Amino acid sequence: MRAKANRAVQAFDDLADRYDAWSDTASGRVLFDLELGALRPLFAGTAGPRLEVGVGSGRFAAALGIDVGLDPAEAPPRLARARGVRVLRGVGSQLPFADDTFGAVALIVTLCFVENPAGVLADVGRVLRPGGRLVVGLVPLDSAWGRSYEEKGRAGHPFYSHARFQTLAEHHLMLAVAGCRLVEARSTLFQAPNDEPVAEPVRSGAVAGAGFVALAAQRESAGAD
Ligand SMILES: C[S@@+](CC[C@H](N)C(=O)[O-])C[C@H]1O[C@@H](n2cnc3c(N)ncnc32)[C@H](O)[C@@H]1O
Repeated sequence: MRAKANRAVQAFDDLADRYDAWSDTASGRVLFDLELGALRPLFAGTAGPRLEVGVGSGRFAAALGIDVGLDPAEAPPRLARARGVRVLRGVGSQLPFADDTFGAVALIVTLCFVENPAGVLADVGRVLRPGGRLVVGLVPLDSAWGRSYEEKGRAGHPFYSHARFQTLAEHHLMLAVAGCRLVEARSTLFQAPNDEPVAEPVRSGAVAGAGFVALAAQRESAGAD
């Protein structure tokens, strides 16, 4: 498991420019805007400071007004810093922050690349203030997009071959185990994955079949039911 996770980080380091440049292609821009449209309303009204774990090249962090990012890779954070995001090096399961620090924490298409998603969620819960908000952006395995990415991974895709996608139900369970209660969600990408992407509406809720889902969960206060 560890070796696979390290290979994922290595891939993001080796191919940082390629990963980042894809968002400037016509297809990449459409997908980025759809995903941002799902994520943005979930950050509305959240208190600072805001953290993104697995910040990568910082496109979402910059667009969402996230103050600080964290990533174990070296090359993508250089791009994030150029976008004005402060980035620390580290892993999501050992966050270098005190308990109860952040009003909001984002994990955007990152849980599928970490070796220990439950450990990352537990530490994110620790650094969130009680009542703070965790926003998770994910590609559900039980969607055409999740199945397509997994298939590309099996065929040797440089990034997806290091991912372990999980179903929407598995994400709900992981959030509950981490002491976070789902409060809001948005879903998009109901179109087929292998056609040229087009704009489409973002729907409210965690809708089965969506290729991208954004979940907002609130950290329960200690001792909450
Ligand atoms: C698909 S990229 C997502 C980057 C950014 N969130 C975005 O959506 O553009 C996944 C990121 O997770 C990072 N990552 C991998 N293992 C990690 C870990 N254990 N803790 C935190 N981040 C990790 C990778 O280095 C990579 O930058």
